[in-house]
Amino acid sequence: MRHFLTLKDYTKTEILEIIDLGLKIKKELKGGESKPYLEKQTLAMIFEKSSTRTRVSFESGIFQLGGHGLFLSNRDIHLGRGEPVKDTARVISSMCDMVMIRTFKHSMLEEFASFSKVPVINGLTDSYHPVQLLADYMTMIEYSKDEAPIVAYIGDGNNMTNSWMMLAAKLGFELRIATPKGYEVESDILNSALEIAKESGAKIITTNSVEEAVNGATVVTTDTWASMGQEDEKEQRLRDFDGFIVDDVLMSKADEKAIFLHCLPAYRGQEVSESVLEGEQSVVFEEAENRLHAQKGLMVWLSRQ
Ligand code: CP
Ligand code: NVA
Repeated sequence: MRHFLTLKDYTKTEILEIIDLGLKIKKELKGGESKPYLEKQTLAMIFEKSSTRTRVSFESGIFQLGGHGLFLSNRDIHLGRGEPVKDTARVISSMCDMVMIRTFKHSMLEEFASFSKVPVINGLTDSYHPVQLLADYMTMIEYSKDEAPIVAYIGDGNNMTNSWMMLAAKLGFELRIATPKGYEVESDILNSALEIAKESGAKIITTNSVEEAVNGATVVTTDTWASMGQEDEKEQRLRDFDGFIVDDVLMSKADEKAIFLHCLPAYRGQEVSESVLEGEQSVVFEEAENRLHAQKGLMVWLSRQ
């Protein structure tokens, strides 16, 4: 049995297998076929933070696979009232076939997984958002078609950046991260990615210059400047991130065929301009749809381990 907590635990071959399986199931669905790969299986979905894409993609995904999803908000289950994680994990995993968790501390997810009898999937923590990266890479395969992508990430050193570092390190592509001073990526995660990159040949560069990151990039991406849980810092962050918007001027410095990705939700006029988000290079809604397909691939892949 395998959990899916970070991409760090997965090989390049496994990551590509999951995405390929997702693409196969996507093709079947688009051809009018919805095969019951996970018939009568249940997916428990624990949410301690808000979500649109993650909830809908997992709930629709498990249903399309012949199973059933249970939406468990921490406002409704006893976890939110202090029932221990280890008790919750043993109870839920004795009744369900798979669990997806969106929470704050990554250690909560790890603790849950260590007590779970069934696969646990990270649906976002403060540290990582690996299912998003499965969808992002699927979108790169479909729309970027670049054998050697150069990805420029502009913005906050957060859970998305950490996940991009792990993906680049595992798959061996070039990733340039531009953050404002004081919002750099966590050094231990960067060091761990750099260590993995030695084997794969990935190039991971961190800078405070947006131009340095974007120059000639084939994929440009960003994320909100204030993640869930950082609402109180929003005003300060708006000031500190001045100059880090992905707008037409910045996009013009990337490769002319570059695509624009964003995990969403997007804040127009902050990390991205309306014109880039809605522009011809943007594939953000295709990327969002791929959450459904990539995660179906993941759930079926996990069920076969
Ligand atoms: N990108 C993403 O995970 O979106 P939600 O927060 O809406 O789930
Ligand atoms: N960094 C963002 C990602 C949202 C999908 C957050 O954690 O809120």
